[in-house]
Amino acid sequence: MHEDLKDIEGLEISFHEKSKRIINIKIEDQVIDRLIFPFKKFDVTALEYKPFTRFTIAKSLNDITSGKLQNLFISILKNRETGCFIISPKNVSSKVDENFLIKLSTAITYLIGNPNHDAMAGKYYARFHVKHEDISDSYLRKAYINMDLHTDGTYVKEKTDWLLMSKLEEENVQGGETTLLHLDDWEHLNELFKDEIGKQNFIWGSPKSKNIDYKVEHPVFFKDKKGRAQISYIDQFPEPKNMEQGLFLQKLSDTLEESKKKIIIPLPVGSAIVANNYFWLHGRKPFKENKNLIRELLRIRGSFFNN
Ligand SMILES: [Fe+2]
Repeated sequence: MHEDLKDIEGLEISFHEKSKRIINIKIEDQVIDRLIFPFKKFDVTALEYKPFTRFTIAKSLNDITSGKLQNLFISILKNRETGCFIISPKNVSSKVDENFLIKLSTAITYLIGNPNHDAMAGKYYARFHVKHEDISDSYLRKAYINMDLHTDGTYVKEKTDWLLMSKLEEENVQGGETTLLHLDDWEHLNELFKDEIGKQNFIWGSPKSKNIDYKVEHPVFFKDKKGRAQISYIDQFPEPKNMEQGLFLQKLSDTLEESKKKIIIPLPVGSAIVANNYFWLHGRKPFKENKNLIRELLRIRGSFFNN
């Protein structure tokens, strides 16, 4: 399917060992080395304050990869058979530090589309820690609780076509793997997609930490241009208005979590998962308890340039 794209110089492109739906892209040292100079031109603050600089580093990334990376990203994400890739430096050297990873993630996303303003962070990206102790109001930072399969952007007005999750740091970690499920692999898709309740408007709110002061309404399931199922769902934020909606969400939640088709992936530091947000669900397994647990993720989500 991507056979013709598999020979981009400086990249190793293969199917992920856990699933042929996920494309693995390894960036060889020669590309990393050539990125150092253009990435040095802007510090992270410049990227935050001057949006056009993000396009500049994205272009550098694309130029260094024979001008082919942008098409590869978009074709993977828009292809229903795949829709997901994991991209990482082949070798994580000292050059690949936190700032480098923020820039790399920025460059990747600006080849795909426009990131949304992340209200939680007040920027085009958000960084968040998971630690032993937590006083927050959502599952995002609760280390020892399973984060159920969900999509992003359920409670905001902005279109959320795709998301990127990049691992910046991890220490004293056991567990906490990323879980992924492609909608077409889910055993109960036909049954629940057919259910009229799923096509009703639900109300979606969010807790304080998300900094969203409005609620939105949309159904759980909707169709793409070809009539295929797409989903916008997370367990914590829909506000069912009657028994039918409540029971529908319970069934959805149970059958997603019970799925045998979940893919469980440990995401190493330096790696980023990028997925289509309409037919891939993502979550996280609980971490093993450890007082010194540290893990930091960066996330960016947004819409495609061309829909
Ligand atoms: Fe998420």
